[in-house]
Amino acid sequence: MILVWIVLFLSVNLTECVPEKPKRSTLNQLTRTLLRKYDCGVRPVHNWTSSTTVYIDLILQSVLDVDGKTQSITTSIWYRQIWRDEFLVWDPEDFDGITELSLSSDAIWVPDIIVTEFVEEGKSPPIPYVYVNSSGSVRNYRPIQAVLACSLEMYAFPFDKQNCSLTFRSWLHSVKEIDLALWRSAEAIAGDKREFMNDGEWELLSVPSQYWQIRQDDADYAQIQFNLLIRRRPLLYVVGLLIPSIFLMLVDVVSFYLPLNSGTRIAFKISILLGYTVFRVNLTDELPATALRTPLIGVFFVVCMAMLMLSLIKSILVVKLLHHSEKEVKQMSLSACLLDRSLEEDLLSLNDVPDPPSGLEWLLQELVSLRMAFSQEDSESSAQAEWLSLCLRLDRLLFRFYLLVLAVYTGTLLLLWARWSFT
Ligand SMILES: *[C@@H]1O[C@H](CO)[C@@H](O)[C@H](O)[C@H]1NC(C)=O
Ligand SMILES: *[C@@H]1O[C@H](CO)[C@@H](O)[C@H](O)[C@H]1NC(C)=O
Ligand SMILES: *[C@@H]1O[C@H](CO)[C@@H](O)[C@H](O)[C@H]1NC(C)=O
Repeated sequence: MILVWIVLFLSVNLTECVPEKPKRSTLNQLTRTLLRKYDCGVRPVHNWTSSTTVYIDLILQSVLDVDGKTQSITTSIWYRQIWRDEFLVWDPEDFDGITELSLSSDAIWVPDIIVTEFVEEGKSPPIPYVYVNSSGSVRNYRPIQAVLACSLEMYAFPFDKQNCSLTFRSWLHSVKEIDLALWRSAEAIAGDKREFMNDGEWELLSVPSQYWQIRQDDADYAQIQFNLLIRRRPLLYVVGLLIPSIFLMLVDVVSFYLPLNSGTRIAFKISILLGYTVFRVNLTDELPATALRTPLIGVFFVVCMAMLMLSLIKSILVVKLLHHSEKEVKQMSLSACLLDRSLEEDLLSLNDVPDPPSGLEWLLQELVSLRMAFSQEDSESSAQAEWLSLCLRLDRLLFRFYLLVLAVYTGTLLLLWARWSFT
């Protein structure tokens, strides 16, 4: 009884299935025909002595990040590889004129081409298909977002150029099995900036490429190296880092015109130095960090700070000298007053003169002309006046020296940076 039921069930199932079985599409037939005896683990050549040439093409799409600390660069590239598969050949006449079809990349042989500089393959979307045409040419196109190891030279920051290479090679197969070649001419690839997102911090200069074979363990390996030559756009850093710093230096230079004896000059210079320190602390994140060499701009900041400090020290010294001389001159005039009572009122009023250089000079002239008798003290007073004018002259001299050092320093830096940014 059960057996009858099963037979009945099966027959019903069969009668339901047969009319619904679809006729295979031409595409399906072609795919089945091509993959029926295909072994995806075997290099697709009829004669094992012939090599498979893989043609490579690359378009740089963007530079996402350049990291000086880890010496790496994150890029997004469009990568294409094309090779000939001698087993995926058909006559389009037999298959409704189909000349191209896509196949799953898992089902066919794919060369093991890798980039030796990859530190980490980023978030590249997986592309599961390749395109094959009737003469067996397989096109494998995919976008790659990758982190590449690159030795970055930050010395010229923010006027730096970087040269990062992408080396494609077969990890395992020697040149006898897999050879490499460029799909387009090297010039066409070098100058191709169509897809490059040109609004970012980096400007693409060119992508020169070269082919060579390296020898490893008695076998030659073919490899193609692309050098990504990129240049940083410095404007952001010039506006954010250099110009504020230059402004502070200018204010510092102008502060030399504050009167020496008023005492505000030192307070002013100290506040500039303080402002500069705060500015520097805020900037530490923006400077690229490299272990080997400090970027020149770091040296620039330190030297700017040293200059501010020097100008402060210089002012302190001159003010100290000046106050010393003023006190002595006042003591001198007091002794002169005691010596001659007839000029008492004159001297008392003169002591209150607020502007020391002119007032003291006048006082000393008075003393020289009226007090011939006290020749010794007179000569001492004129010595004091000379000292005063010496102070002022010293101030002027140091200021000129400071300006000279500053000009030489600025000139050198400008020359260096101009050379880097225009070559
Ligand atoms: C393979 O190719 C080489 C030269 O290209 C030839 O000498 C050899 O006979 C070929 N082998 C076969 C099995 O066709
Ligand atoms: C297949 O593609 C290759 C490379 O794109 C091309 O050279 C060849 O002519 C194509 N074959 C056919 C039959 O379209
Ligand atoms: C970039 O670096 C490669 C080697 O890493 C070198 O062969 C090439 O000449 C360099 N290019 C420039 C423009 O410096």
